[in-house]
Amino acid sequence: MASRPTISKAVIPAAGLGTRFLPATKATPKEMLPVVDKPAIQYVVEEAVSAGLDDVLMITGRNKRPLEDHFDRNYELESALQKKGDASRLAKVQESSDLATMHYVRQGDPKGLGHAVLCAAPHVGHEPFAVLLGDDLIDPRDPLLQRMIEVQEEHGGSVIALMEVAPEQIHLYGCAAVEATAEGDTVKITGLVEKPDPADAPSNYAIIGRYVLAPQIFDVLRETEPGRGGEIQLTDALQQLAADEKLGGPVHGVVFQGRRYDTGDRGDYLRAIVRLACEREDLGPEFRTWLRGYVGQELTEG
Ligand code: G1P
Repeated sequence: MASRPTISKAVIPAAGLGTRFLPATKATPKEMLPVVDKPAIQYVVEEAVSAGLDDVLMITGRNKRPLEDHFDRNYELESALQKKGDASRLAKVQESSDLATMHYVRQGDPKGLGHAVLCAAPHVGHEPFAVLLGDDLIDPRDPLLQRMIEVQEEHGGSVIALMEVAPEQIHLYGCAAVEATAEGDTVKITGLVEKPDPADAPSNYAIIGRYVLAPQIFDVLRETEPGRGGEIQLTDALQQLAADEKLGGPVHGVVFQGRRYDTGDRGDYLRAIVRLACEREDLGPEFRTWLRGYVGQELTEG
């Protein structure tokens, strides 16, 4: 059998307005909001790189220049830190510019996630590729993308990440109808619906923001009409692929059971910061001591 093309490209849609975080996101992209001391988007690029994808295309829009600056050199800052002999901070500044080969394309009109992914077509060409959504952070200790790439290499077609959620949460996600396979963590996707009403949801399997896609998705997206919210939905294009395997191979799902943080929601964003800060070797011990005291006090007073 001819070997399948290896996956080397990651696409990160980052054109959203971030209205849930106003006013913080009035002049700053939501992807630049810090999770402890690193912008959320850097965790996502690091995840792509640790899965072996070091060609990263970001789909941006107006007011997203800080993203490009973050992954570029900052000579002024670097030389100031060099002069001071501050090697550890210098390394932090250089880390993000040395991470990956970065490319950028602007989405222009915000016509939805499917349209954002379609903007990647000229860069991606005819290979399978990964899509990582910036609002979902996957804990590096629970690798997901590597497993999805393995499943894609085994079955071909496309692979999406799924997580079981409470039925009352399913309307916030794309939802998958699934069939079991011989592998415990992998399911075959038989249908997909974007943000269903709970009564119509075919399961409680939610799509989380990681995809490994067959390049045929672009042909389907070109024909996909606006769906939920008047936007061109990636979920609708994937539904087409799942419904007709002749288009671009099967669609499988990897069921993720690890740690995921949703930084697109303010409550979850705060929880992510607290959890990650507690686990940090440098900040954790002092922060945990403070937090224990604070929580004890809140519970007795509240
Ligand atoms: C997008 C997708 C949805 C998916 C979600 C995961 O929705 O359209 O299918 O479940 O990401 O985070 P969004 O949250 O951008 O509205």
